[in-house]
Amino acid sequence: MDDIFIAQSSLFTEQQVTFLNNTLQSKGLVVAPEKIQRAAPWQYLGLTLTDTLVRPQKLHLWIWKRKVFGQHLAVQIVLRALSTNLHSKQPKKPLVMSFHGWTGTGKSFVSSIIAENLYQLNAWRRRFVHHFSTVLHFSHGSHVHLYKEQLQNWIRGNVSACPRSLFIFSEMDQMPHGLIDSILPFLSYRDEIDGVYYGKAIFIFLNNAGGDKITEIALDYWRRLKRREDIPVEELQDLLSKDIFRNPNSGFFQSQLIQKNLIDYFIPFLPLEYKHVKQCVREELRVQGRPDEEELITEIASAMADYPSEERLYSSKGCKTVASRVALST
Ligand SMILES: Nc1ncnc2c1ncn2[C@@H]1O[C@H](COP(=O)(O)OP(=O)(O)OP(=O)(O)O)[C@@H](O)[C@H]1O
Ligand SMILES: [Mg+2]
Repeated sequence: MDDIFIAQSSLFTEQQVTFLNNTLQSKGLVVAPEKIQRAAPWQYLGLTLTDTLVRPQKLHLWIWKRKVFGQHLAVQIVLRALSTNLHSKQPKKPLVMSFHGWTGTGKSFVSSIIAENLYQLNAWRRRFVHHFSTVLHFSHGSHVHLYKEQLQNWIRGNVSACPRSLFIFSEMDQMPHGLIDSILPFLSYRDEIDGVYYGKAIFIFLNNAGGDKITEIALDYWRRLKRREDIPVEELQDLLSKDIFRNPNSGFFQSQLIQKNLIDYFIPFLPLEYKHVKQCVREELRVQGRPDEEELITEIASAMADYPSEERLYSSKGCKTVASRVALST
């Protein structure tokens, strides 16, 4: 059964809570204590909504209620970056994060968790989240001039309607050379441009470029019997930004956004190990309403752990095909 939501305009009294608990218990239902909210919804959701404004007040850890496996570095940085930005009344510049890693490691997954957290995605608020798919929206290298203008107009129009807009660019590695630099003016340290303030906007880039570098470092740690949790994050971010800048297939090849340090965080998504794939399979079984089947979990995870060919430590597809493998196994 789905959750039951009970609310009223005034605070629930202790008697009312006891009455509800007793009544529900008599029907075999329970109220999870952590679900009882004694504050107004806009306070515990961390958002204040006005006509054109989404103003997050507090970022709670419930952002990670959905399980993200094996990405302690990414989770840590994203959480810190968001909470710093959201708590600032007048951020000096938009928050810009660039996610890097192999396919299926959770980049889109985490960006959708962020979007859900910020806007509690319902149809009305979904208009503050803008998703550009490079393959879909910027597919013709010869149209770069046109795309530049369209992109600038789109960002300008939407940020002037809602300062706290979220822009997600996926498949950055396929972005035509030079296109992304067209958004440079919006990411800079400025009060306003033509009367529009951009400091509250958030930009997220999703990129497979850099994935090999991240894997190389993670593997090196593993071979030296060190924990991946101990990989120094600053060093990794620095290596990533250099790698992306030099890579002609990263969307940021010789990009001014990097040269001018306008990307605040390069966020590494580590390759997923056998044990993380197992966690994904277990979670997928739960989502599909099926019991934990240890044999199946091991079978799928073993088949997916394929890199390097000798050690078979990581899944080169991350958890990407887990859902379909689980569905096929019925
Ligand atoms: N670290 C993770 N923790 C939990 N689930 C994950 C993780 N990584 C991937 N998944 C699962 O796999 C699915 C596919 O991952 P996702 O689309 O986020 O990969 P991606 O990194 O964006 O890949 P691509 O580079 O191909 O776009 C997710 O919807 C999620 O169900
Ligand atoms: Mg993706």
